[in-house]
Amino acid sequence: MRIAVGVTGASGAIYGYTLIKALSKLGVEVHAVYTDMGRKVLEYECGITTEDIKPHAVVYDNSDLFAALASGSFKTGGMVVVPCSMHTLGALATASGRDLLTRAADVTLKEGRKLVVVPRETPMTAIHLSNMLTLARTGAVVMPAAPGFYHKPETLDELVNCMVGKILDIFDIKHSLYTR
Ligand SMILES: Cc1cc2nc3c(=O)[nH]c(=O)nc-3n(C[C@H](O)[C@H](O)[C@H](O)COP(=O)(O)O)c2cc1C
Repeated sequence: MRIAVGVTGASGAIYGYTLIKALSKLGVEVHAVYTDMGRKVLEYECGITTEDIKPHAVVYDNSDLFAALASGSFKTGGMVVVPCSMHTLGALATASGRDLLTRAADVTLKEGRKLVVVPRETPMTAIHLSNMLTLARTGAVVMPAAPGFYHKPETLDELVNCMVGKILDIFDIKHSLYTR
């Protein structure tokens, strides 16, 4: 199985990093693309760079529209955009395709594959909400970065793993990231 992961400059870089590591550990071929701000926030929040992602994923340049991910003929099981900034959310809702991340997400939708979008912002404007509705109506799964507390997490990892586990559930990937 092959899954694409797009990471933007919204807060919560740890969600993307944890997802990429979990998928790779589960034997999934991961194809990752970071926006410029995604790379900066990864460094700022997690203290790592995309070099640290390379052992777990094929990492693309977001400006490379010749990359495999830009084409529908490159088969994937779907794509996750996590965390998703309001900037990228808007680009996805308008099918912008201006860079590799938005093009790959648009390809995922047009090919009828699973697109999971994990927006992170609060509070939200009517524009943000409307963009989410547009994506949901187009077939994307919109899954705000809103981890639950009912499993009584004691560490940050447990909180993050719960959210990442919910993403894996969408793809029917078996995992033990949280207790049901
Ligand atoms: C530390 C930091 C945290 C941010 N958190 C968010 C956020 O949670 N949600 C959001 O929409 N934008 C957030 N931003 C702003 C985005 O990075 C900015 O809008 C950027 O243009 C997004 O670009 P991208 O979608 O190409 O990654 C944050 C910026 C910084 C520096």
